[in-house]
Amino acid sequence: MTHLVRGRQELAAARKVLPGSVGLVPTMGALHKGHLANIRQAKARCESVVVSIFVNPMQFERADDLERYPRRLADDLAVCEAEGVDVVWAPGVPDVYPNGPAQVWVTAGELADQLEGPNRPGHFDGVLTVVSKLFARVAPDRAFFGEKDYQQLTLVRRLVADLDTDVEIIGVPTVREADGLALSSRNVFLSTEERRQALVLITALRTGRDAAGNASAVLEAAGTVLAAAEGVDVHYLELRDPQLGRAPASGPARLLVAASVGATRLIDNLAVELTG
Ligand code: PAF
Repeated sequence: MTHLVRGRQELAAARKVLPGSVGLVPTMGALHKGHLANIRQAKARCESVVVSIFVNPMQFERADDLERYPRRLADDLAVCEAEGVDVVWAPGVPDVYPNGPAQVWVTAGELADQLEGPNRPGHFDGVLTVVSKLFARVAPDRAFFGEKDYQQLTLVRRLVADLDTDVEIIGVPTVREADGLALSSRNVFLSTEERRQALVLITALRTGRDAAGNASAVLEAAGTVLAAAEGVDVHYLELRDPQLGRAPASGPARLLVAASVGATRLIDNLAVELTG
């Protein structure tokens, strides 16, 4: 049975009696199939699983976005129960920030000024700050993050490497609809026509990947697909190395795209092998 805990002391008591290796799946709730994939990976790789559900005010730039963020604890708990999660930690803001808003933050560095960063100033600092706090409270052996938010995953990997945090970070492949659309809580905002138009993101990424040439060939193939798309405002199409540094001449790379379809901003990414 899943144990719901709220306060820090309650969490500490529940954590103390968890057997074996502990996997943490950090979430902001409103769990969907993407979260389920993370939970299932955690179940497969750890003896005990903790899911945290916390809508972190420090990673929202706009108060109305924070307010509007869906909160569905009863449904989320039922999902966690069905998946055999051991502990759900759903703290309130004072449980996570008992001294009020943090004065000392984790700063994400120059990677936060690129890709998603300019669109969301301060967002990644807020994410890394809360993730550090979740790690400190839960003390997991492993933590699970979706590859869909590839920049977040990459920054969390840097966080544990740069700050010597003893947590293994596991990236979980993006969950897709049958037609390839990446699952996102934002997909519900798409009209039927916009949902059809949104497929151009994965089509472009797959076309780039399948071009299987050097960086220019991949970018040109993917860019041609995006340029022909109607109703899609492309924010960026970028090819990087797997750590989001400069794309290599050959070998593993990551192709990333962000675009607005109607009023909805979508992101997606795919692994690519450059052949030089
Ligand atoms: O990806 C999310 O849901 C959030 O950014 C995270 C990692 C739970 C931190 O609040």
